[in-house]
Amino acid sequence: MAFRLSLMTNIFPISEEESFWSCQMTDNLSPIDKAKFVAAKRATQYVQSGMKVGLGTGSTAAWLVKCLGEMVRDEGLRIKGVPTSTRTAELARQVGIEVITLDEAKWLDVTIDGADEFDADLNLIKGGGGAHLQEKIVATASDQMVVIADISKQVETLGAFPLPLEVIPFGWQTIKTLVEEALIGMDVLGRTTSLRMKGDAPFITDEGNHILDLHLNRIGNPRQLSLVLNQIPGVVENGLFIDICDAVVIGYGDGRVEVRDINEGTVDEMKYDFLTKDNIFTDIAD
Ligand code: A5P
Repeated sequence: MAFRLSLMTNIFPISEEESFWSCQMTDNLSPIDKAKFVAAKRATQYVQSGMKVGLGTGSTAAWLVKCLGEMVRDEGLRIKGVPTSTRTAELARQVGIEVITLDEAKWLDVTIDGADEFDADLNLIKGGGGAHLQEKIVATASDQMVVIADISKQVETLGAFPLPLEVIPFGWQTIKTLVEEALIGMDVLGRTTSLRMKGDAPFITDEGNHILDLHLNRIGNPRQLSLVLNQIPGVVENGLFIDICDAVVIGYGDGRVEVRDINEGTVDEMKYDFLTKDNIFTDIAD
């Protein structure tokens, strides 16, 4: 135990977010973190040795990267990962996953990523972390996209979460006006837009762009909206993922996991027991 724990501590400095690596601290995980963790853990079953894997961005995807890192180190899993942001690339390298670019990979076996909202058709809103441009390219260039999420991300209709829109910095205020004009003809409930900030300065994406958040409350026709937004000059990409996601792995705070596969039309359920010796919370105490 001492060896594995200290190895872990070296690779993953234990912060509150990462405390699950220390089995004594698992009680500290909030139900939401447990839900994210079990979704990520279950989604590792989509990954096999030899695969090229798209690695999503965000707090749920970070759990996945850590789980895969553990499998690389402990189980001899051999994968090449294509990260969807600089922060995911950093984490992937930290946990020992070989990182390659999308152009090196060309095509991926599977991409596993989080989402801000998903509906019954597995259409998504993404980009809460500002990485939806790379995420959409990587997911689209994959045989399969699997979303991992806690149950709070499930919605009947997309739009309560502000829709992220990546725009170039040049003329962003004019682009914002063009977007607001375009929204007038759209089936949405709200039409205000705001420039995403990081402290006192505009948030800057990995591509050096800005993000406009569209406060729409309800998106009646996501497919149409996505097409219209992407036609506005200066808009690089919107955060709607339509017909991209193949399956969603939904985690619950009590360890339950539900897998919905839209192509197969199947729903599978299982449960992780946080107290058994067979799960990640206790198996580092051998
Ligand atoms: C990153 O830009 C996003 O698309 C994330 O995938 C999304 O915001 C989900 O993040 P969390 O897993 O942190 O909720």
